Amino acid sequence: MAHFKRLLATLSVVGLAVAQSSTQYCDSISGICFQGYADPDLDVTVGLVLPPLSTPPSDELIVQMVAPVSNGYTGISLGGTMADSLLFTLWPNDDKVILGPRWTSGYVLPDVYTGPTLTLLPGSGVNSTHITATFRCQNCTTWEDGSLGSGDLTSFGVLAYVVATTTSPADPADVASTLQEHDDFDFFGMDLSSAHSDDYSSYISGSASSSSSAPTSTSKPTSTSSVPPSSTSSAPSATQTEWGQCGGTGYTGPTTCASGLACVAVSPPYYSQCQST
Ligand SMILES: *[C@@H]1O[C@H](CO)[C@@H](O)[C@H](O)[C@H]1NC(C)=O
Ligand SMILES: *[C@@H]1O[C@H](CO)[C@@H](O)[C@H](O)[C@H]1NC(C)=O
Repeated sequence: MAHFKRLLATLSVVGLAVAQSSTQYCDSISGICFQGYADPDLDVTVGLVLPPLSTPPSDELIVQMVAPVSNGYTGISLGGTMADSLLFTLWPNDDKVILGPRWTSGYVLPDVYTGPTLTLLPGSGVNSTHITATFRCQNCTTWEDGSLGSGDLTSFGVLAYVVATTTSPADPADVASTLQEHDDFDFFGMDLSSAHSDDYSSYISGSASSSSSAPTSTSKPTSTSSVPPSSTSSAPSATQTEWGQCGGTGYTGPTTCASGLACVAVSPPYYSQCQST
């Protein structure tokens, strides 16, 4: 059974007023100044840098994720939702940074996603307290069924992050490892208009330093066995399937659950989902 019902639920909270919003911070280790947010409770920092605005727009950006080394894994969503967003998962494997892109169309474990090219930049690594991934991400501003800032790189986007504090990846050496549902999450408003930097090209030229911090393969397809049965997926229909959304702030989809399921407000008033009773 899929363990991602709550991840979906919590990451579906787009469109509501976001209390937290990004500010600029400069990372002393990489020397890069990011637009981002540091969560004081979950101890997670997420930052972005985009190249200067251009026509056509560049498809790349620099992403930073910093999280407690004690987290089983930490994830972010560039689209603010679990479904149809470019996701990144991060965890340590001893002193190695295991980072990979993932994507899902529905309410199942996100599969490793091919398309983006990730390159860890200097300053990435694992110390006694934190794991840091600072990476160049090419082919990353658009993805299947979505894009950063909904295609407007001067807009206010929503970025979400999740932490697993009570579970670890089944195979921490494998970027495509099966994961259990996260334990907590939050999100913030990302001011993309302030995330563009004239220093972008100098930031990425410091790339590819230590081989020990090279990301593991991000193009390796996961086996289908890590994906829960398709009966848990979210095909749009007049009645909602198990774990599908059936209500909540801004929701306009089906509000009737399939036979044997009830619409439960799991995160009122933001999110309700169909569950068996
Ligand atoms: C870019 O990523 C998309 C998936 O988002 C993929 O289909 C496409 O092949 C990638 N393009 C390149 C040049 O890698
Ligand atoms: C570990 O790295 C984090 C993130 O760069 C930093 O804030 C922290 O001070 C470092 N901890 C130690 C013990 O060096």
